[in-house]
Amino acid sequence: MDELINELIKSSIKAKNKSYSPYSRFKVGASILTKSNKIFTGANVECASYSLTICAERVAAVKAISSGEKKFKYLAIATSRTQSDFPCGACLQFLTEFSSNLKIIVVKSSREYKIYELKELLPKNFIL
Ligand code: THU
Repeated sequence: MDELINELIKSSIKAKNKSYSPYSRFKVGASILTKSNKIFTGANVECASYSLTICAERVAAVKAISSGEKKFKYLAIATSRTQSDFPCGACLQFLTEFSSNLKIIVVKSSREYKIYELKELLPKNFIL
């Protein structure tokens, strides 16, 4: 498992290189480890109509879901800043839809990271 977590963290750092962020110049990479131990990566994709921008976490999640993987164990997030950046509230709600027991790895570097429960970052979520 430790090896997979290391791979997940490294792939989130690498994924930010694929960010399309000409407006904010803020690169985000996300990487999801599914229940079946597959890794899906994503990067933020911006648009001239700013509100159409899609966060890296949702890009990774949608890639996994549309490949038939709906259950996630871990999501790692890395950004172009050196500080720890948490997923935004919209992404937390989106991720809760699929895996409310998800663990979120906030990555500072391949050696410096912290693991949180999705539930502690979004204690209350919208349910229909
Ligand atoms: N962004 C993400 O990719 N994930 C988040 O959780 C928050 C923000 C992106 C969206 C936009 O491209 C840039 O970061 C600045 O908001």
